[in-house]
Amino acid sequence: MPTLLRVDSSPMFQTSVSRQLTEEFVRRWRALHPDGRVISRDLNQTQLAPVTAQWIAAAYTPKESLTSEQKCILELSDTLIAELEEADEYVIGVPMHNFSIPSTAKLWIDLVVRRGKTFTYAEGRPGGLLRGKRATFLVASGGKYDAGTALASFNFIEPYLRAVFAFLGVTETTFINAGGTAELRSAETNRAAFLQPYVNAVALHVG
Ligand SMILES: Cc1cc2nc3c(=O)[nH]c(=O)nc-3n(C[C@H](O)[C@H](O)[C@H](O)COP(=O)(O)O)c2cc1C
Repeated sequence: MPTLLRVDSSPMFQTSVSRQLTEEFVRRWRALHPDGRVISRDLNQTQLAPVTAQWIAAAYTPKESLTSEQKCILELSDTLIAELEEADEYVIGVPMHNFSIPSTAKLWIDLVVRRGKTFTYAEGRPGGLLRGKRATFLVASGGKYDAGTALASFNFIEPYLRAVFAFLGVTETTFINAGGTAELRSAETNRAAFLQPYVNAVALHVG
C-alpha cells in the first residue's frame, strides 16, 4: 500500500499558506492513490523537547543495553523515525522563520537524525538509511527568494533541508516555494488568485 507522510510545521493553523499547500498535495495524492495511506504529523501538536545529554546518551547506547528510562526518552524519536520508514513519500510544509525553518521543524530533525536508525558510519563514511523515498517541500515565505534576486542567498531553508535529507539517503527532493505571502496582508490581494500558481505547481508535481 503506498504511504505518504505529511508533516506540517506552521503555527498559523487558520491562515497558513504551507498548510493549505500540503492539504492540496494530500488531496491530489489521495485521488491518485485511492488505496493509499496518509500519516499526518503536525509538529505544532507534538510535544517536542530540545535534545538533552540524557537523550544523546540513550541514542548512542546499543539497543540491547537500553534501560527502561532510556527507552522512554527515545520513544518519540522512535515513533517519528518509524513514520519516515513506513512512508514511501514525504510532503513537508515549511514556513520560513528568520530565513530558515521553524524551531519545531528543527526539533523534529534533531529527533529523526539518529545513528544506526536513519544514518550509519558503518563503512567509515556516512550513509543514509532512508532509501528509495522522495520528499516534496512546500515552502511559504513573506518575501521572495527566487534565484538571481538579491534575497536568494538569504534562503537557508533549501540548502539546509537538501543537505539533511541527502545525509539520511533522501536525494529525490523537490521544492515548491510560495514566496511573497506578505502581500496577503493587503486587502487588494486575492488569496485564491495569489495561491493559484503554487496550487498548480503542486498538481503538476503530484501528477
Ligand atoms: C516568527 C516569524 C519569522 C519570519 N521570518 C521570515 C523571514 O525571515 N523571511 C520572510 O520572508 N518571511 C518571514 N516570515 C513570514 C513567513 O515566512 C510567512 O508569513 C509565511 O507565509 C509563513 O508560512 P505559513 O503561512 O505557512 O505560516 C516570518 C514569520 C514569522 C511568524
